[in-house]
Amino acid sequence: MEYLARLKEAAKAIRELGSPKAAVILGSGLSGILPLSAERKKVFTEIPGFPKPTVEGHVGEVAVGKLGGREVLVQRGRIHYYEGYELSEVVFPVRAYALAGVKVLIVTNAAGGIRHGFFPGDLVLISDHINFLCQNPLRGPNLEELGPRFPDMSQAYDPELRSLAREVAWELGIVLKEGVYLMAPGPSYETPAEIRAFRAWGADLVGMSTVPEVIAARHAGMRVLGISVVTNFAAGVSEKPLSHEEVLQVTRERAAELGRLLSALIPRLPLP
Ligand code: HPA
Repeated sequence: MEYLARLKEAAKAIRELGSPKAAVILGSGLSGILPLSAERKKVFTEIPGFPKPTVEGHVGEVAVGKLGGREVLVQRGRIHYYEGYELSEVVFPVRAYALAGVKVLIVTNAAGGIRHGFFPGDLVLISDHINFLCQNPLRGPNLEELGPRFPDMSQAYDPELRSLAREVAWELGIVLKEGVYLMAPGPSYETPAEIRAFRAWGADLVGMSTVPEVIAARHAGMRVLGISVVTNFAAGVSEKPLSHEEVLQVTRERAAELGRLLSALIPRLPLP
C-alpha cells in the first residue's frame, strides 16, 4: 500500500483508541514509567501500516489513556534507524499520530553526556539538535497533507514547553539541565575523536534516536518537547568503555524520576 494510505490507516486505528492531543515516546528502558488509567492499547503489529519489526527488533505498543485527567498517547518502545529501517519508517508512528490529531509530542531517550558537568543520571531538557545522520526523513516527494516542503527548524524544541518543563521540575525539586542533542546513526558507540568533534560543534548529548522523529513532528506542525536521561559519559569523556548494560541500568535507576516529571507536566500542557 502507498505510504500516505498506510499512514491514514494507522491514524484510523489510533483514533479507535481515543482522541489524544498529546503523545509521548518512551525510549529504551523507559517504557514502564507512565501507567495510564482506562488504558486501551495496540501492539505495533496490530496497527495497520505500522512498520514491521525487524528480526532483532522488539515489538512496541501504543497506549491511549488518562493521566491526571488528560487523555494522552504513550508509545512504549521505538523504531530505531540502526535496526535497518528506512527513515520514512522510523518517522511513520509520529506522522500517524499527527494525522490522528496529536498536537504535542514529547520525546524521551537515553543519551551519552558530552558536556563537562553532565553526569550519568542527569535529566536534560533538549534545547536543540544536530542531525549527524546527514540524511533527512523528509527527503523525497513532500507529503503536502502533512506539512510544507521546507519546514522551519529554528525553534524545533518549543520554548514555551521548555519553560513549562523547567517550572514543573523546579516545583518537584527535580534538577533539569539543558543541552543540545546530537544523533549519531549507531549501532556502534562513538569514538573519542568523534565525541571531541561533536563537542566542538556544540553538542552536549549524543544518542541514536529522536532527531528524525522531531523533524517529522515539526514538519507536521506538532510542538515538541525532548528530555534525555544521561546514562553514561560519552566515549573518551571518561576512561570507561561504554556498555549497553550500563545504559539500561542507569535508565532504570532514573526512570521513576522522569515518570514523576512527565506525570506532573502532561496534565499542564497547553493544548488546543
Ligand atoms: N552514544 C550513543 N547513544 C547512546 C549513548 C552514547 O554514549 N548512551 C546512550 N545512548
